[in-house]
Amino acid sequence: MELHVSDVSPLNWAGDGLAIGVFEDVLTSSSDHTALNEKLSGTLQELITEVEFKGKEGSVASTRVGGGSPIRKIILVGLGKPGSLELEGLRRAAAAIARAAKKEKCKTLAVQLPIWQEDAAKTTQAIAEGIELALHQDNRFKSEAEDKGSVVETVHLLGLAGQTAALETAHKICSGVILARELVAAPANVVTPITLAETAEAIANDHGLSLKILEQEDCEKLGMGAFLGVARASDLPPKFIHLTYKPTGTPRRKVAIVGKGLTFDSGGLNIKGAGSGIEMMKTDMGGAAATLGAAKAIAQIQPDVEVHFISAATENMISGHAMHPGDILTASNGKTIEINNTDAEGRLTLADALVFAEKLGVDAIVDLATLTGACVIALGDDIAGVWTPDDAIAQQLLGAAEAAGEKLWRMPLEEKYFEGLKSGLADMKNTGPRPGGAITAALFLKQFVKETPWAHLDVAGPVWADKENGYNNAGATGYGVRTLVNWVLA
Ligand code: BES
Ligand code: MN
Ligand code: ZN
Repeated sequence: MELHVSDVSPLNWAGDGLAIGVFEDVLTSSSDHTALNEKLSGTLQELITEVEFKGKEGSVASTRVGGGSPIRKIILVGLGKPGSLELEGLRRAAAAIARAAKKEKCKTLAVQLPIWQEDAAKTTQAIAEGIELALHQDNRFKSEAEDKGSVVETVHLLGLAGQTAALETAHKICSGVILARELVAAPANVVTPITLAETAEAIANDHGLSLKILEQEDCEKLGMGAFLGVARASDLPPKFIHLTYKPTGTPRRKVAIVGKGLTFDSGGLNIKGAGSGIEMMKTDMGGAAATLGAAKAIAQIQPDVEVHFISAATENMISGHAMHPGDILTASNGKTIEINNTDAEGRLTLADALVFAEKLGVDAIVDLATLTGACVIALGDDIAGVWTPDDAIAQQLLGAAEAAGEKLWRMPLEEKYFEGLKSGLADMKNTGPRPGGAITAALFLKQFVKETPWAHLDVAGPVWADKENGYNNAGATGYGVRTLVNWVLA
């Protein structure tokens, strides 16, 4: 699909589909619409009357334009009340248009949407993101493409001439989101620690980043007993991925992004039972996917910030080599951990990854992890939780997420709950009581960061969507990539 910006008037555009954004309650007053209605021999007004189109946010209507018109289909998308339109509303409106155009088999499409707060660049970026993300279809595992014969080929964004840089930025970001989606969607027999490392290598080669993969022996030398304890039962070698983007000049700041990279989580010897959603545990590398997706986007955008992308990738499996419940592991900062539940494995892999990240001397660390079912119970499928002792980084991340349209909510890092992780034998247990399980998980991680400003995002809910919603299709969402990009650029 090709996106173009154009100053052609909707009155003069010719092609398969013309899509127009319509605010609530202004349907009859707009002269634009009057002129277009006349041009289309009254079809626009007929459509509005026939389906009682009110311009409600998210509503869509389309019809065929007859009489030898240069436009085959007219598509209307509701924008809600004029005063309350946000960039996310434009992103979602653009997605609704793209879906309707695909359904109506429009190969060529023109989109006329209002400019948000006189910011043509942000408007263009949001619309382009909405279209590209909504049209992304993952046909890798189908013997025949599902959307064969209904592919939108060219899209013209009317009234946004000159905004090619914003188009390019959107495309760079979307390439990262789509990479993350495809990594999460691919099953555990396709995305393994080895292929995750290969993906990092491809990003490094394509976009000029430096890459270091630490093999098992390297991790042993660094004393990563927590990570390696998890990796022990897998037949696949663990891969500790460290990808670095360095700007050409002196970096304005240095940050690390750490993603949980469990390519499958069986639970280990505390194996996940029936009804636990074990068949979805290919998604347990959603944090690593967002990390690599952000790397792909940032490598192309080239900001003046040094970014380290880190993931301790492995599987949580069972075998004769598996760590036993009750084992005591020593992490790379010397802290000892009594494993009272092998299914709380993500925090073990993150422990060593966080210690590694802090040793890089960065100004801030953000980790993303499909860490707990408890976070899904607390916030549901759409909202990620953020835990941090640092108010500044919390505000940065909440702002970045808001601008991305990715839902994020700050959660309490209640120190008192660390009592639930106390061990009689070791420095701590890896699992606390069920109540507040997402909080104790965050408190566990905090033991592995000394003084660097740090935030933890539990993304267990939003990495996957059961239903299509806005520009997200059903399935992997690529959650986190756009928030991370915004955070790095801010
Ligand atoms: N990967 C899971 C968390 C998860 C659950 C992600 C559901 C997505 C959907 C994590 O490793 C896990 O198993 N957590 C346990 C922790 C418990 C043993 C303390 C959980 O949430 O049940
Ligand atoms: Mn687990
Ligand atoms: Zn897990």
